[in-house]
Amino acid sequence: MLPSMRVIVFASQKGGSGKTTLSGHMAVQAELAGAGPIALIDTDPQGSLSKWWNVRESESPYFIQSVFSNLFQDLDLARREGFRYVFIDTPPAVTRAISEVVNFADIVIIPTRPSPHDLRAVGPTVDIVESKHKQLVFVVNDATPRARITSEAAVALSQHGTVAPTIVHNRVDYASSMIDGRTVMETNAGGRSAKEMESLWKYVQERLHRMETVHAGWLDENGQSALEANTNALGRRAPSFGRRLQ
Ligand SMILES: Nc1ncnc2c1ncn2[C@@H]1O[C@H](COP(=O)(O)OP(=O)(O)OP(=O)(O)O)[C@@H](O)[C@H]1O
Ligand SMILES: [Mg+2]
Repeated sequence: MLPSMRVIVFASQKGGSGKTTLSGHMAVQAELAGAGPIALIDTDPQGSLSKWWNVRESESPYFIQSVFSNLFQDLDLARREGFRYVFIDTPPAVTRAISEVVNFADIVIIPTRPSPHDLRAVGPTVDIVESKHKQLVFVVNDATPRARITSEAAVALSQHGTVAPTIVHNRVDYASSMIDGRTVMETNAGGRSAKEMESLWKYVQERLHRMETVHAGWLDENGQSALEANTNALGRRAPSFGRRLQ
């Protein structure tokens, strides 16, 4: 049997909540933590994650050039190629396409800024995740240190689902590190932001492990993950891993 591959989807209808920042950072952090090989997929027409990867020097994590309509085949191919985790960035919207991406998720991460507008906007994203009976984790992102609204946001979000214990704070290096295709772990290893990414990935990974062992309903009766359960005949296509875009 092929080793299992887990699919982590970043979704939130709210623009600018940190989907792309966290997709790139979590993927690199997973590699650094030895959980690789890791692949990234950008399903957002804005292409922010692809553009970041294109200026990145390192070839890892891998980038899979995919589109909504080929996601199933591309993920299945990634699994056959031996990828352990695939991170998928999505556009800021609530559409049928996003709902289809969520179908492939083993866990959906919903980054949320601690602002009233962002908190009010989580409903439709949560509805999609719940309608697909998927696990979700909120990540409070872009938080101002010591601001009361941060803990208030975490409490408000906890009414809708699990909130990651790691708060991601507002720091300029989350943005500046991505300018030349890197991450905070690569520009300032051991810094505060890098430590946040380390602890966030640890939490997400532990949660996936816990779901695997405790939440029996997550795997079907054959022990298959979300993707494997969706798999039937695969029309093999030429792999497009790690290809720089024009
Ligand atoms: N923790 C943070 N600290 C400082 N800046 C941040 C942080 N998280 C994200 N940003 C910045 O906020 C902006 C929006 O982040 P990002 O592009 O990751 O959000 P997004 O949810 O992918 O947006 P979109 O919905 O448009 O795809 C970017 O300029 C990013 O660099
Ligand atoms: Mg984005």
